[in-house]
Amino acid sequence: MPATIIDGKSIALKINQETAAIAAKLAERAGRKVGLAVVLVGDDPASAVYVRNKVKACADTGIESRMIAMSASSTTEEVLQVIRELNADENIDGILVQSPPPPQVDESAVILAIDPDKDVDCFAERNVGRLLIGEKPGFHPCTPWGVMELLRYSGIDPKGKHAVVIGRSNIVGKPMAALLMQKAAGANATVTVVHSGTPDIRRYTLDADILVAAIGKPEFVKGDMIKDGAVVIDVGINRIFDEALGKNRLVGDVKYAEAVEKASFITPVPGGVGPMTIAGLLRNACIALQLKLEREGK
Ligand code: GUN
Repeated sequence: MPATIIDGKSIALKINQETAAIAAKLAERAGRKVGLAVVLVGDDPASAVYVRNKVKACADTGIESRMIAMSASSTTEEVLQVIRELNADENIDGILVQSPPPPQVDESAVILAIDPDKDVDCFAERNVGRLLIGEKPGFHPCTPWGVMELLRYSGIDPKGKHAVVIGRSNIVGKPMAALLMQKAAGANATVTVVHSGTPDIRRYTLDADILVAAIGKPEFVKGDMIKDGAVVIDVGINRIFDEALGKNRLVGDVKYAEAVEKASFITPVPGGVGPMTIAGLLRNACIALQLKLEREGK
């Protein structure tokens, strides 16, 4: 039987409705809206689309966004200067620098410069550390949090399951493994992380009850790498040229047509994990203002 499709778009919509209610309450308490700055350096078309989607989602949720577009020739120092100004801005609760920036910009330096209290991507050392420890409250890493929410909304409990994460990026793979292995309700999985240095990835994926593909390679996971009845979560967003269509098309890291015949649940691309990443970001922006108000005793 083909897999049940996990509809990330409609789950994200529900979460964003809750977020809008949270944002409205916070705005009342703070006397201003939650403020999110989105910095886009350069003119990568895919990044521009992602940033536009983030700005639109803010507007739909009652979050004030400030988009800062910087030229492709910007230096690290110029980006750092923008970050310093945003750090000091009382009306900005969250700062996001769209990744990847152009190669001349030192991304780690930029991430480290963001005030950890405004780090809505959950990339800063302090927040990554807290995540690993399982300390609350704090920011969620947006995409991995989105995946956990997809599982929860679909009634899939990772407890005692073997979760295999393909990919070890700081944005997805590492925090994904951390969330899945937490000793907490809705987690408690046994986690294996495989990556470009793993000699026989199939050996591990074939044993996965929950398979999270975040390797950034179009249709990398084939049907014969998936155990019957596995839950397949596809984090990949890749543009490929489709000869038959004569144009570009989005595909994930999973060969969907094959996987859908093996899996019990599967996320589509687009409309699976993608909308959840933005939902995670909007929620983090609210958490940033909530924590600020608590720090200020308001
Ligand atoms: N590029 C792709 N995904 C992300 C994300 O979650 N945050 C940022 N800042 N850049 C990205």
